[in-house]
Amino acid sequence: MENFNEMISAWKGEAVLIKFDRPTGSWIFIALHDFTLGNPSGGTRFQVYPSPNEALLDAMRLAEGMTNKWAAIDFPHGGGKAVIAPPGPIEADDRIGLFRRYGRFLESLNGLFATGADMGTTEADIAVIGQETRFVHGLDANHQPVDPGPYTAHGVYSGLCEALRATVGSADPAGITVLVQGVGDVGGVLARTLSAAGANLLLCDLNSGLLQQVASELDAEIVAPDDIYATACDVYAPCAVGATLNRETIPLLKCKIVAGSANNQLAESADANRLVERGILYAPDYIINAGGAMSLGLADSGSRDSKELFARVESIGTSLAEIFQEASERSESPVLAAQRRVERILETARAASTD
Ligand code: PHE
Repeated sequence: MENFNEMISAWKGEAVLIKFDRPTGSWIFIALHDFTLGNPSGGTRFQVYPSPNEALLDAMRLAEGMTNKWAAIDFPHGGGKAVIAPPGPIEADDRIGLFRRYGRFLESLNGLFATGADMGTTEADIAVIGQETRFVHGLDANHQPVDPGPYTAHGVYSGLCEALRATVGSADPAGITVLVQGVGDVGGVLARTLSAAGANLLLCDLNSGLLQQVASELDAEIVAPDDIYATACDVYAPCAVGATLNRETIPLLKCKIVAGSANNQLAESADANRLVERGILYAPDYIINAGGAMSLGLADSGSRDSKELFARVESIGTSLAEIFQEASERSESPVLAAQRRVERILETARAASTD
C-alpha cells in the first residue's frame, strides 16, 4: 500500500486531519470529503487495522459515502468520517481516556466535523465524546445518545421489502431466505425483524459468541465465513465490513438481491455492472443504510419521538422503489440512478451558493 501522501493526493476529498493519540498508540483520521451541503459529519469507526494506511483509506472511502448519504436524504451536512485505529483492543479506563481526548479534539475543531456512532463505537463511547464536545449528533434531552442502529435496520428492512417487490412481485419477506452477514447493532435487529416477518435466516458473524446467541434465539442456520458468498439464498444482506462485493465474490453469489446496511459494499465502481450482468438487484448502500443518519439528523432538530423517527425512515423504501424503477427502465445499475439523485441535490446547492 502507498504512503499517506500518495493516498491523500489521489483522493478527491477536501482535507484529512491526522492525530496520533500517544497514551494508547492509536491513530485518528478524520476525512473531510465535501462541504457543499454543510460542514462534514459522519460516524466514528473504531477498529484494529493491519496498518494505519488501511485505516486512512477506510476513513477516506467512508467519508465519500457520507457525502452521498446526506445528499440522498437532502440533509444539510457535508460528507466526513472518522476512524480511530488502536494497536489492539482497548477497554475500561484506557478507552474512556481515548474517547475523552478525541471529544476534546473535536471540540477544538469548533464544528468543522460532527460525529456519532459507527462500527466499533458503543453508545457509552458516544456519551463520553458528548461530555467533551457539542459536536455529536443525536444526543437526547438528557444528553444521552440516540442509538442509530435500530433506525438503520428499519430502513434496510423497508428497502429489502421493496427490492423483493421489484424482483419477485411481492414485498412480503415470509418464506424468503436471507443471509445476514454481521449480527451486531444493525444486522442483529434486521435479522430479528425479518424472522418476525416469517423469513428464513442464515447468519454469519466473526464474533462466535454473539452469533450462537442470535442463531439460537431465531432458530437460524449458521454459515461459516468462507461459505458466505457461495451459499444459496434469496437475499444477501451485508451488515458488517465493506468491499464484500468484488471481482472475486460476485461470480460466486447465488442470490437475487443484495440489500444490507454495510457502508461501501462495492470494492470498485465496476462491481455495480458485474452485479447487473449476474442479474442481481443491488440496493445502493448509502441509500438503504441512511436510516441511522436520518434519525440522528432529525433528533438534532428536536424530533426524538421514536415512532415518528421510524415512520420517517420508511421513506427509504419509497426512494429505493423509485431508484429500482428508474434503473429497470434504463436497464442499468441502481447505483447510477442513485448517483444522479445525489448529483441533482449537490448541483442545486452549488447553484444556490453562487447566486
Ligand atoms: N455511522 C452511521 C452511518 O454511517 C450513522 C451515522 C450517521 C453517524 C451520521 C453519524 C452521523 O450512517
